[in-house]
Amino acid sequence: VTSSPDFEKLVTAVARPMLVVTTVAGTARAGCLVGFHCQCSIEPPQYAVWLSKANRTFEIAMLAETYALHFLDEGDLGLAELFGTVTGDDEDKFERCSWHPGAGGVPLLDGCTTRMQMSRIAMHDAGGDHVCFVLAPRAVDLADDVTPLESTELGDLSAGHAAEERRTRH
Ligand SMILES: Cc1cc2nc3c(=O)[nH]c(=O)nc-3n(C[C@H](O)[C@H](O)[C@H](O)COP(=O)(O)O)c2cc1C
Repeated sequence: VTSSPDFEKLVTAVARPMLVVTTVAGTARAGCLVGFHCQCSIEPPQYAVWLSKANRTFEIAMLAETYALHFLDEGDLGLAELFGTVTGDDEDKFERCSWHPGAGGVPLLDGCTTRMQMSRIAMHDAGGDHVCFVLAPRAVDLADDVTPLESTELGDLSAGHAAEERRTRH
């Protein structure tokens, strides 16, 4: 089954809060803007993010153990743009923002203090262009007064990698 205009219309009409997911494997750091994410268990607490098979972040995430989920605030359009439109294949995004290492060396963005540092529980590939990473929280930081940056407020950002690009080199 291929995507239909009505499916597209419905899923883009519904506002989704935006995340920046960062991760690290060895000395390789990666991160991208993510709109596909949600809590997926209460007890134990678990949170799922879906990463595109086209992204460099996916490649590093498969090798990684720690992840940071940054919940963007309405003032974080610059971070959304940096992590959503630039690919780490071309540029080091971490040279263009302020960050420090958290658990296991995972990059924590100084500009976004509502975040969770996570460990990986499972990965699930349902055959689509994104893969589900099920994560458990190790540490949670919640800033006061967060107004989530939502997908409907982003304007027209052009993703660093289109989802239909699949990686062929390995
Ligand atoms: C509005 C928007 C939502 C996005 N949602 C996701 C997502 O849920 N998962 C994902 O892996 N990539 C998503 N992307 C794409 C990546 O953020 C983008 O391709 C990024 O440049 C990839 O960088 P990388 O190659 O360094 O990983 C989204 C991009 C935009 C603009």
